[in-house]
Amino acid sequence: MKIIVAAGKIENQRTDGAVLLLFEGEKLGPIAERVDKALGGTITRLLKRGDFKPRPGTVHLIYPEGRIAAERLVLAGMGKRSELTLNRLRQAAGKAAPYLRAAGATDVAISSGAIGLDEGETAQALTEGSMLGLYRFLKYKTNEENDVKREIRALTILTENAALVGTLQKGVKAGEAVAESTVMARDMVSSPSADMTPTIIAANVRHIAKEFGLRLQVLERQQMEKLGMGGLLGVASGSVQPPKFIIIEYRRGGKKPFIAIVGKTITFDSGGISIKPAENMDRMKDDMSGGAAVIGAIRSAAVLKLPLNIVGLLPATENMPSGSAYKPGDVLRTLSGKTIEVVNTDAEGRLVLSDALTYACRYRPAVIVDIATLTGACRIALGQEAVGMLGTNEKFKNKLHEAGEKTGERVWEMPLWEGYYDQIKSDIADMKNTGGRDGGLITAAALLSKFVQNYPWVHLDIAGTAWTDKDRPYTPKGATGIGVRLLTQFLRDYEKGK
Ligand code: BES
Ligand code: MN
Ligand code: ZN
Repeated sequence: MKIIVAAGKIENQRTDGAVLLLFEGEKLGPIAERVDKALGGTITRLLKRGDFKPRPGTVHLIYPEGRIAAERLVLAGMGKRSELTLNRLRQAAGKAAPYLRAAGATDVAISSGAIGLDEGETAQALTEGSMLGLYRFLKYKTNEENDVKREIRALTILTENAALVGTLQKGVKAGEAVAESTVMARDMVSSPSADMTPTIIAANVRHIAKEFGLRLQVLERQQMEKLGMGGLLGVASGSVQPPKFIIIEYRRGGKKPFIAIVGKTITFDSGGISIKPAENMDRMKDDMSGGAAVIGAIRSAAVLKLPLNIVGLLPATENMPSGSAYKPGDVLRTLSGKTIEVVNTDAEGRLVLSDALTYACRYRPAVIVDIATLTGACRIALGQEAVGMLGTNEKFKNKLHEAGEKTGERVWEMPLWEGYYDQIKSDIADMKNTGGRDGGLITAAALLSKFVQNYPWVHLDIAGTAWTDKDRPYTPKGATGIGVRLLTQFLRDYEKGK
Protein backbone atom coordinates (compact mmCIF):
# COMPACT_ATOMS: atom_id res chain seq x y z
CA MET A 1 0.00 0.00 0.00
CA LYS A 2 1.31 3.36 -1.00
CA ILE A 3 0.79 6.13 1.52
CA ILE A 4 0.64 9.67 0.24
CA VAL A 5 0.34 12.97 2.06
CA ALA A 6 -1.57 15.67 0.25
CA ALA A 7 -3.02 19.10 0.90
CA GLY A 8 -6.70 19.34 0.15
CA LYS A 9 -10.24 19.10 1.38
CA ILE A 10 -11.74 15.71 2.08
CA GLU A 11 -14.99 16.54 0.26
CA ASN A 12 -13.03 17.22 -2.94
CA GLN A 13 -10.97 14.04 -2.80
CA ARG A 14 -11.74 11.62 -5.63
CA THR A 15 -11.41 8.30 -3.88
CA ASP A 16 -13.16 4.95 -3.35
CA GLY A 17 -13.45 5.72 0.31
CA ALA A 18 -13.05 8.84 2.43
CA VAL A 19 -12.66 8.60 6.20
CA LEU A 20 -13.93 11.33 8.49
CA LEU A 21 -13.03 11.29 12.17
CA LEU A 22 -15.88 12.31 14.49
CA PHE A 23 -15.78 13.14 18.19
CA GLU A 24 -18.45 12.16 20.65
CA GLY A 25 -20.60 14.61 22.59
CA GLU A 26 -19.79 17.81 20.75
CA LYS A 27 -20.79 19.87 17.73
CA LEU A 28 -19.28 18.87 14.39
CA GLY A 29 -15.80 20.31 13.83
CA PRO A 30 -15.16 22.63 10.85
CA ILE A 31 -14.22 19.84 8.43
CA ALA A 32 -17.11 17.56 9.37
CA GLU A 33 -19.47 20.50 9.20
CA ARG A 34 -18.54 21.23 5.58
CA VAL A 35 -18.92 17.58 4.62
CA ASP A 36 -22.27 17.49 6.41
CA LYS A 37 -23.43 20.54 4.51
CA ALA A 38 -22.40 19.00 1.19
CA LEU A 39 -24.38 15.90 2.14
CA GLY A 40 -27.46 17.95 2.96
CA GLY A 41 -27.22 17.33 6.70
CA THR A 42 -26.95 13.51 6.64
CA ILE A 43 -24.35 13.38 9.41
CA THR A 44 -26.28 15.69 11.73
CA ARG A 45 -29.41 13.57 11.22
CA LEU A 46 -27.53 10.31 11.83
CA LEU A 47 -26.14 11.63 15.09
CA LYS A 48 -29.43 13.15 16.19
CA ARG A 49 -31.32 9.90 15.60
CA GLY A 50 -28.62 8.01 17.45
CA ASP A 51 -28.04 5.72 14.45
CA PHE A 52 -24.36 6.44 14.88
CA LYS A 53 -22.60 7.25 18.12
CA PRO A 54 -18.96 8.24 17.56
CA ARG A 55 -17.61 5.94 20.25
CA PRO A 56 -14.03 4.72 19.97
CA GLY A 57 -13.64 1.94 17.46
CA THR A 58 -17.05 2.40 15.78
CA VAL A 59 -17.53 3.03 12.07
CA HIS A 60 -20.48 3.92 9.86
CA LEU A 61 -20.68 3.76 6.06
CA ILE A 62 -22.45 6.36 3.95
CA TYR A 63 -22.89 6.42 0.17
CA PRO A 64 -22.64 10.10 -0.77
CA GLU A 65 -24.12 9.52 -4.26
CA GLY A 66 -22.15 12.30 -5.90
CA ARG A 67 -22.65 14.97 -3.25
CA ILE A 68 -18.95 14.78 -2.36
CA ALA A 69 -16.19 13.47 -4.63
CA ALA A 70 -15.70 10.18 -2.73
CA GLU A 71 -17.59 7.00 -3.67
CA ARG A 72 -17.97 6.00 -0.04
CA LEU A 73 -17.67 7.86 3.23
CA VAL A 74 -16.81 6.18 6.49
CA LEU A 75 -17.46 8.01 9.73
CA ALA A 76 -14.97 6.83 12.35
CA GLY A 77 -15.85 7.33 16.01
CA MET A 78 -13.13 8.89 18.15
CA GLY A 79 -14.80 9.09 21.56
CA LYS A 80 -14.56 12.30 23.58
CA ARG A 81 -12.06 14.89 22.44
CA SER A 82 -10.85 15.32 26.01
CA GLU A 83 -9.81 11.64 26.05
CA LEU A 84 -8.02 11.73 22.70
CA THR A 85 -4.82 9.70 22.44
CA LEU A 86 -2.67 8.48 19.57
CA ASN A 87 -4.10 5.05 20.24
CA ARG A 88 -7.62 6.28 19.47
CA LEU A 89 -6.30 7.42 16.10
CA ARG A 90 -4.69 4.04 15.42
CA GLN A 91 -7.94 2.37 16.40
CA ALA A 92 -10.04 4.57 14.13
CA ALA A 93 -7.76 4.03 11.13
CA GLY A 94 -7.40 0.36 12.00
CA LYS A 95 -11.19 -0.07 11.92
CA ALA A 96 -11.98 2.16 8.94
CA ALA A 97 -9.36 0.78 6.52
CA PRO A 98 -10.36 -2.92 6.65
CA TYR A 99 -14.02 -1.88 6.66
CA LEU A 100 -13.50 -0.01 3.39
CA ARG A 101 -11.49 -2.89 1.97
CA ALA A 102 -14.36 -5.27 2.73
CA ALA A 103 -16.74 -2.82 1.02
CA GLY A 104 -14.59 -2.99 -2.12
CA ALA A 105 -12.49 0.16 -1.93
CA THR A 106 -8.92 0.03 -3.22
CA ASP A 107 -8.10 3.69 -2.71
CA VAL A 108 -8.71 5.48 0.58
CA ALA A 109 -8.31 9.03 1.89
CA ILE A 110 -8.36 10.08 5.49
CA SER A 111 -8.66 13.55 6.87
CA SER A 112 -6.06 14.33 9.56
CA GLY A 113 -6.99 17.92 10.35
CA ALA A 114 -8.39 19.64 13.44
CA ILE A 115 -7.42 16.83 15.82
CA GLY A 116 -5.31 18.74 18.30
CA LEU A 117 -2.39 16.30 18.59
CA ASP A 118 1.11 16.71 17.18
CA GLU A 119 0.69 16.53 13.39
CA GLY A 120 3.67 14.26 12.72
CA GLU A 121 2.55 11.84 15.41
CA THR A 122 -0.99 11.98 14.08
CA ALA A 123 0.21 10.95 10.62
CA GLN A 124 2.35 8.22 12.15
CA ALA A 125 -0.59 6.85 14.15
CA LEU A 126 -2.93 6.88 11.13
CA THR A 127 -0.28 5.06 9.10
CA GLU A 128 0.30 2.44 11.80
CA GLY A 129 -3.41 1.96 12.41
CA SER A 130 -4.25 1.41 8.75
CA MET A 131 -1.29 -0.83 7.95
CA LEU A 132 -1.69 -2.95 11.06
CA GLY A 133 -5.49 -3.06 10.83
CA LEU A 134 -5.27 -4.28 7.24
CA TYR A 135 -2.84 -7.06 8.17
CA ARG A 136 -3.73 -10.58 7.06
CA PHE A 137 -1.66 -13.74 7.19
CA LEU A 138 -2.40 -15.36 3.83
CA LYS A 139 0.78 -17.33 3.21
CA TYR A 140 -0.96 -20.67 3.71
CA LYS A 141 -4.26 -19.82 2.02
CA THR A 142 -4.65 -20.99 -1.53
CA ASN A 143 -6.75 -19.05 -3.99
CA GLU A 144 -8.85 -22.12 -4.66
CA GLU A 145 -10.16 -22.33 -1.14
CA ASN A 146 -10.45 -18.60 -0.54
CA ASP A 147 -11.11 -15.70 -2.81
CA VAL A 148 -8.15 -13.63 -1.74
CA LYS A 149 -9.84 -10.29 -1.65
CA ARG A 150 -8.58 -7.09 -3.17
CA GLU A 151 -6.09 -5.04 -1.23
CA ILE A 152 -6.13 -1.32 -0.63
CA ARG A 153 -3.45 0.04 -2.92
CA ALA A 154 -3.24 3.66 -1.88
CA LEU A 155 -3.94 5.64 1.25
CA THR A 156 -3.94 9.44 1.20
CA ILE A 157 -3.54 11.39 4.41
CA LEU A 158 -5.05 14.79 3.89
CA THR A 159 -4.28 18.09 5.54
CA GLU A 160 -5.84 21.46 4.81
CA ASN A 161 -2.61 23.22 5.70
CA ALA A 162 -0.08 22.82 2.87
CA ALA A 163 2.72 23.96 5.22
CA LEU A 164 2.26 20.75 7.22
CA VAL A 165 2.81 18.31 4.35
CA GLY A 166 6.51 17.81 5.19
CA THR A 167 5.81 17.15 8.87
CA LEU A 168 3.10 14.67 8.01
CA GLN A 169 5.37 12.91 5.52
CA LYS A 170 7.97 12.40 8.23
CA GLY A 171 5.30 10.90 10.47
CA VAL A 172 4.21 8.59 7.66
CA LYS A 173 7.81 7.42 7.15
CA ALA A 174 8.17 6.60 10.85
CA GLY A 175 4.80 4.87 10.84
CA GLU A 176 5.74 2.80 7.81
CA ALA A 177 9.04 1.78 9.39
CA VAL A 178 7.47 0.41 12.55
CA ALA A 179 4.36 -1.01 10.90
CA GLU A 180 6.37 -2.91 8.27
CA SER A 181 8.63 -4.28 10.99
CA THR A 182 5.60 -5.28 13.05
CA VAL A 183 4.09 -7.03 10.04
CA MET A 184 7.37 -8.89 9.57
CA ALA A 185 7.30 -9.96 13.22
CA ARG A 186 3.65 -11.06 12.95
CA ASP A 187 4.45 -13.13 9.85
CA MET A 188 7.34 -14.84 11.64
CA VAL A 189 5.26 -15.61 14.72
CA SER A 190 2.26 -16.85 12.72
CA SER A 191 4.40 -19.21 10.67
CA PRO A 192 4.33 -22.88 11.68
CA SER A 193 7.40 -23.94 13.64
CA ALA A 194 8.34 -26.34 10.85
CA ASP A 195 8.83 -23.28 8.64
CA MET A 196 10.36 -21.03 11.29
CA THR A 197 13.20 -23.12 12.70
CA PRO A 198 16.30 -21.56 14.30
CA THR A 199 18.07 -22.11 10.97
CA ILE A 200 15.35 -20.28 9.05
CA ILE A 201 15.30 -17.43 11.56
CA ALA A 202 19.07 -17.07 11.19
CA ALA A 203 18.64 -16.94 7.40
CA ASN A 204 15.92 -14.29 7.74
CA VAL A 205 18.14 -12.19 9.96
CA ARG A 206 21.01 -12.60 7.48
CA HIS A 207 18.71 -11.19 4.83
CA ILE A 208 17.88 -8.13 6.95
CA ALA A 209 21.53 -7.68 7.91
CA LYS A 210 22.48 -7.60 4.22
CA GLU A 211 19.74 -5.17 3.36
CA PHE A 212 20.71 -2.69 6.08
CA GLY A 213 24.43 -3.31 6.36
CA LEU A 214 24.30 -4.79 9.86
CA ARG A 215 26.96 -6.96 11.42
CA LEU A 216 25.76 -10.52 11.96
CA GLN A 217 27.26 -13.47 13.77
CA VAL A 218 25.51 -16.81 14.13
CA LEU A 219 27.04 -19.18 16.67
CA GLU A 220 26.64 -22.89 15.90
CA ARG A 221 26.36 -25.68 18.44
CA GLN A 222 30.12 -26.32 18.47
CA GLN A 223 30.92 -22.70 19.24
CA MET A 224 28.31 -22.67 22.00
CA GLU A 225 29.91 -25.77 23.48
CA LYS A 226 33.27 -24.11 23.42
CA LEU A 227 31.93 -21.02 25.16
CA GLY A 228 29.99 -23.08 27.68
CA MET A 229 26.42 -22.05 26.92
CA GLY A 230 24.97 -24.86 28.99
CA GLY A 231 21.55 -23.23 29.34
CA LEU A 232 20.84 -22.94 25.65
CA LEU A 233 22.49 -26.28 24.86
CA GLY A 234 20.52 -28.06 27.58
CA VAL A 235 17.23 -26.90 26.13
CA ALA A 236 18.39 -27.69 22.59
CA SER A 237 19.46 -31.23 23.44
CA GLY A 238 16.07 -32.77 22.69
CA SER A 239 15.65 -31.31 19.23
CA VAL A 240 16.94 -32.42 15.85
CA GLN A 241 16.88 -28.77 14.78
CA PRO A 242 20.32 -27.25 15.34
CA PRO A 243 20.22 -24.32 17.78
CA LYS A 244 21.57 -20.92 16.74
CA PHE A 245 22.80 -18.05 18.84
CA ILE A 246 22.19 -14.99 16.71
CA ILE A 247 24.09 -11.77 17.34
CA ILE A 248 23.12 -8.76 15.29
CA GLU A 249 24.84 -5.42 15.65
CA TYR A 250 23.51 -2.10 14.46
CA ARG A 251 26.18 0.57 14.70
CA ARG A 252 25.37 4.15 14.00
CA GLY A 253 26.20 5.58 17.41
CA GLY A 254 29.90 6.31 17.15
CA LYS A 255 31.47 5.80 20.56
CA LYS A 256 28.18 5.52 22.47
CA PRO A 257 27.80 2.38 24.59
CA PHE A 258 25.62 -0.40 23.23
CA ILE A 259 22.00 -0.93 24.08
CA ALA A 260 21.50 -4.69 24.33
CA ILE A 261 18.14 -6.21 23.45
CA VAL A 262 17.63 -9.89 24.07
CA GLY A 263 14.69 -11.90 22.71
CA LYS A 264 13.55 -15.37 23.74
CA THR A 265 13.52 -17.38 20.51
CA ILE A 266 12.02 -20.79 21.25
CA THR A 267 10.70 -21.79 17.83
CA PHE A 268 8.46 -24.42 19.40
CA ASP A 269 7.87 -25.07 23.08
CA SER A 270 6.45 -28.55 23.61
CA GLY A 271 7.54 -28.35 27.23
CA GLY A 272 10.18 -31.02 26.62
CA ILE A 273 10.13 -34.06 28.95
CA SER A 274 7.83 -32.03 31.26
CA ILE A 275 5.53 -32.04 28.26
CA LYS A 276 2.62 -29.64 27.92
CA PRO A 277 -1.00 -30.82 27.56
CA ALA A 278 -2.23 -31.19 23.97
CA GLU A 279 -4.79 -28.42 24.26
CA ASN A 280 -3.43 -25.22 22.76
CA MET A 281 0.04 -26.68 22.30
CA ASP A 282 -0.16 -25.49 18.68
CA ARG A 283 0.07 -21.95 20.04
CA MET A 284 3.60 -22.64 21.25
CA LYS A 285 4.93 -21.78 17.81
CA ASP A 286 4.66 -18.21 19.13
CA ASP A 287 7.38 -18.78 21.74
CA MET A 288 9.84 -16.94 19.52
CA SER A 289 7.84 -13.69 19.71
CA GLY A 290 10.54 -12.01 21.81
CA GLY A 291 13.12 -12.74 19.13
CA ALA A 292 10.76 -11.47 16.44
CA ALA A 293 10.29 -8.23 18.41
CA VAL A 294 14.05 -7.75 18.67
CA ILE A 295 14.55 -8.30 14.94
CA GLY A 296 11.67 -5.94 14.20
CA ALA A 297 12.99 -3.20 16.49
CA ILE A 298 16.48 -3.37 15.02
CA ARG A 299 15.01 -3.27 11.55
CA SER A 300 13.00 -0.16 12.47
CA ALA A 301 16.07 1.47 14.01
CA ALA A 302 17.96 0.81 10.78
CA VAL A 303 15.19 2.23 8.59
CA LEU A 304 14.99 5.31 10.81
CA LYS A 305 18.79 5.56 10.91
CA LEU A 306 18.80 6.14 14.68
CA PRO A 307 22.21 7.36 15.88
CA LEU A 308 22.70 4.48 18.33
CA ASN A 309 24.69 1.31 18.84
CA ILE A 310 22.37 -1.63 19.39
CA VAL A 311 23.10 -5.31 19.76
CA GLY A 312 20.32 -7.85 19.39
CA LEU A 313 20.83 -11.29 20.90
CA LEU A 314 18.62 -14.25 20.04
CA PRO A 315 19.08 -17.64 21.69
CA ALA A 316 17.16 -19.79 19.21
CA THR A 317 16.12 -23.41 19.66
CA GLU A 318 13.18 -25.77 19.89
CA ASN A 319 12.21 -27.30 23.24
CA MET A 320 11.44 -30.95 22.46
CA PRO A 321 11.25 -34.26 24.27
CA SER A 322 13.41 -37.12 22.96
CA GLY A 323 15.94 -39.70 24.07
CA SER A 324 18.61 -37.07 24.04
CA ALA A 325 16.54 -34.38 25.75
CA TYR A 326 17.53 -32.74 29.02
CA LYS A 327 15.59 -34.03 31.98
CA PRO A 328 14.11 -32.86 35.27
CA GLY A 329 16.84 -33.19 37.85
CA ASP A 330 19.64 -32.30 35.45
CA VAL A 331 21.99 -29.50 36.43
CA LEU A 332 23.10 -27.11 33.71
CA ARG A 333 26.26 -25.02 33.86
CA THR A 334 25.50 -21.68 32.22
CA LEU A 335 27.82 -19.35 30.34
CA SER A 336 28.18 -17.28 33.51
CA GLY A 337 29.54 -20.31 35.36
CA LYS A 338 26.46 -20.41 37.60
CA THR A 339 24.59 -23.68 37.80
CA ILE A 340 20.85 -24.23 37.49
CA GLU A 341 18.95 -27.29 38.61
CA VAL A 342 16.23 -28.16 36.13
CA VAL A 343 13.05 -28.88 38.03
CA ASN A 344 10.79 -28.55 35.02
CA THR A 345 11.98 -28.68 31.41
CA ASP A 346 9.07 -26.44 30.45
CA ALA A 347 10.72 -23.51 32.23
CA GLU A 348 13.17 -23.36 29.33
CA GLY A 349 12.97 -19.66 28.46
CA ARG A 350 14.94 -18.54 31.51
CA LEU A 351 17.61 -21.15 30.71
CA VAL A 352 18.31 -19.89 27.21
CA LEU A 353 18.02 -16.29 28.40
CA SER A 354 20.55 -16.82 31.18
CA ASP A 355 23.25 -17.44 28.57
CA ALA A 356 22.06 -14.61 26.33
CA LEU A 357 22.02 -12.11 29.21
CA THR A 358 25.54 -13.14 30.22
CA TYR A 359 26.62 -12.69 26.62
CA ALA A 360 24.99 -9.24 26.57
CA CYS A 361 27.23 -8.16 29.48
CA ARG A 362 30.28 -8.62 27.23
CA TYR A 363 29.20 -5.44 25.44
CA ARG A 364 29.33 -3.41 28.67
CA PRO A 365 25.91 -2.12 27.61
CA ALA A 366 24.23 1.07 28.83
CA VAL A 367 21.13 -1.03 29.39
CA ILE A 368 19.91 -4.57 28.75
CA VAL A 369 16.27 -5.08 27.81
CA ASP A 370 15.00 -8.61 27.37
CA ILE A 371 11.64 -9.54 25.92
CA ALA A 372 10.14 -12.99 26.26
CA THR A 373 6.98 -15.09 26.22
CA LEU A 374 8.26 -16.31 29.55
CA THR A 375 5.43 -17.33 31.86
CA GLY A 376 1.81 -18.44 31.74
CA ALA A 377 1.67 -16.64 35.09
CA CYS A 378 2.11 -13.32 33.31
CA ARG A 379 -1.05 -13.94 31.36
CA ILE A 380 -2.88 -14.98 34.53
CA ALA A 381 -1.76 -11.79 36.28
CA LEU A 382 -2.22 -9.18 33.55
CA GLY A 383 -4.35 -10.88 30.91
CA GLN A 384 -3.89 -9.91 27.29
CA GLU A 385 -3.82 -6.17 28.01
CA ALA A 386 -0.38 -5.53 29.46
CA VAL A 387 3.23 -6.56 29.16
CA GLY A 388 4.74 -7.57 32.51
CA MET A 389 7.78 -5.50 33.44
CA LEU A 390 10.41 -6.08 36.11
CA GLY A 391 13.90 -4.72 36.39
CA THR A 392 16.69 -3.15 38.31
CA ASN A 393 16.71 0.40 37.01
CA GLU A 394 14.05 3.03 37.67
CA LYS A 395 15.03 5.34 34.82
CA PHE A 396 14.79 2.69 32.13
CA LYS A 397 11.63 1.18 33.59
CA ASN A 398 10.07 4.64 33.41
CA LYS A 399 11.19 5.05 29.81
CA LEU A 400 9.66 1.75 28.84
CA HIS A 401 6.46 2.64 30.65
CA GLU A 402 6.30 5.92 28.73
CA ALA A 403 7.01 4.14 25.44
CA GLY A 404 4.15 1.78 26.30
CA GLU A 405 1.71 4.62 26.88
CA LYS A 406 2.73 6.26 23.62
CA THR A 407 2.53 3.16 21.46
CA GLY A 408 -0.44 1.48 23.12
CA GLU A 409 1.79 -1.52 23.86
CA ARG A 410 1.30 -0.91 27.54
CA VAL A 411 3.52 -2.31 30.25
CA TRP A 412 2.84 -2.80 33.94
CA GLU A 413 5.45 -3.24 36.60
CA MET A 414 5.64 -6.11 39.07
CA PRO A 415 7.86 -6.13 42.16
CA LEU A 416 11.21 -7.88 42.27
CA TRP A 417 11.57 -8.07 46.04
CA GLU A 418 14.14 -10.05 47.97
CA GLY A 419 11.69 -12.52 49.43
CA TYR A 420 10.88 -13.97 46.02
CA TYR A 421 14.45 -15.20 45.65
CA ASP A 422 13.90 -17.83 48.37
CA GLN A 423 11.59 -19.67 45.95
CA ILE A 424 14.36 -20.41 43.45
CA LYS A 425 16.92 -21.71 45.94
CA SER A 426 18.17 -25.18 45.05
CA ASP A 427 19.53 -27.87 47.35
CA ILE A 428 22.23 -28.96 44.93
CA ALA A 429 22.86 -26.11 42.46
CA ASP A 430 23.12 -22.30 42.61
CA MET A 431 19.43 -22.01 41.82
CA LYS A 432 16.56 -23.98 40.35
CA ASN A 433 14.60 -23.13 37.25
CA THR A 434 11.13 -22.88 38.78
CA GLY A 435 9.85 -21.34 41.95
CA GLY A 436 6.46 -23.01 42.07
CA ARG A 437 3.11 -21.49 41.12
CA ASP A 438 3.13 -18.53 43.49
CA GLY A 439 4.28 -15.36 41.72
CA GLY A 440 5.52 -17.31 38.72
CA LEU A 441 5.96 -14.14 36.65
CA ILE A 442 8.21 -12.73 39.33
CA THR A 443 10.32 -15.76 40.21
CA ALA A 444 11.15 -16.21 36.52
CA ALA A 445 12.42 -12.63 36.41
CA ALA A 446 14.28 -13.19 39.69
CA LEU A 447 16.26 -15.95 38.02
CA LEU A 448 17.07 -13.75 35.02
CA SER A 449 18.31 -10.99 37.33
CA LYS A 450 21.14 -13.32 38.44
CA PHE A 451 22.70 -13.03 34.98
CA VAL A 452 22.85 -9.29 34.29
CA GLN A 453 25.71 -8.41 36.66
CA ASN A 454 25.39 -4.73 37.58
CA TYR A 455 24.12 -3.50 34.24
CA PRO A 456 20.82 -1.65 34.20
CA TRP A 457 18.27 -4.23 33.13
CA VAL A 458 14.58 -4.39 32.28
CA HIS A 459 12.66 -7.59 31.60
CA LEU A 460 9.45 -7.62 29.55
CA ASP A 461 7.17 -10.67 29.75
CA ILE A 462 4.94 -10.81 26.67
CA ALA A 463 3.32 -14.20 27.33
CA GLY A 464 -0.12 -12.57 27.57
CA THR A 465 0.24 -10.12 24.70
CA ALA A 466 2.15 -11.87 21.89
CA TRP A 467 -1.05 -13.45 20.64
CA THR A 468 -4.62 -12.18 20.72
CA ASP A 469 -7.62 -14.48 20.83
CA LYS A 470 -9.95 -11.77 19.55
CA ASP A 471 -9.86 -9.13 16.84
CA ARG A 472 -8.76 -5.77 18.21
CA PRO A 473 -9.09 -2.46 16.34
CA TYR A 474 -5.68 -2.61 14.69
CA THR A 475 -4.60 -6.05 15.81
CA PRO A 476 -6.49 -8.83 14.08
CA LYS A 477 -6.79 -12.18 15.87
CA GLY A 478 -3.44 -13.98 15.99
CA ALA A 479 0.14 -12.80 16.35
CA THR A 480 0.30 -9.19 17.52
CA GLY A 481 3.92 -8.35 16.77
CA ILE A 482 4.08 -6.82 20.25
CA GLY A 483 7.35 -5.26 21.27
CA VAL A 484 8.40 -3.91 17.89
CA ARG A 485 6.70 -0.55 18.33
CA LEU A 486 7.40 -0.48 22.06
CA LEU A 487 11.13 -1.10 21.69
CA THR A 488 11.43 1.22 18.70
CA GLN A 489 9.78 4.03 20.65
CA PHE A 490 12.11 3.32 23.57
CA LEU A 491 15.09 3.57 21.21
CA ARG A 492 13.85 6.75 19.56
CA ASP A 493 13.30 8.49 22.90
CA TYR A 494 16.62 7.18 24.20
CA GLU A 495 18.31 8.72 21.20
CA LYS A 496 16.61 12.03 21.87
CA GLY A 497 17.84 11.85 25.46
CA LYS A 498 14.27 12.26 26.72
N1 BES B 1 6.48 -20.36 26.76
C1 BES B 1 5.94 -20.70 28.04
C2 BES B 1 5.12 -19.56 28.62
C3 BES B 1 3.78 -19.34 28.00
C4 BES B 1 2.69 -20.06 28.45
C5 BES B 1 3.61 -18.40 27.03
C6 BES B 1 1.46 -19.83 27.89
C7 BES B 1 2.37 -18.16 26.47
C8 BES B 1 1.29 -18.87 26.91
C9 BES B 1 7.07 -20.99 29.02
O1 BES B 1 8.20 -21.57 28.47
C10 BES B 1 6.54 -21.95 30.01
O2 BES B 1 6.20 -23.03 29.64
N2 BES B 1 6.47 -21.52 31.26
C11 BES B 1 5.97 -22.35 32.31
C12 BES B 1 6.87 -22.20 33.49
C13 BES B 1 6.58 -23.15 34.59
C14 BES B 1 6.92 -24.56 34.18
C15 BES B 1 7.38 -22.74 35.81
C16 BES B 1 4.56 -21.88 32.63
O3 BES B 1 4.32 -20.68 32.63
O4 BES B 1 3.70 -22.73 32.83
MN1 MN C 1 8.01 -23.69 28.36
ZN1 ZN D 1 8.51 -21.21 26.49
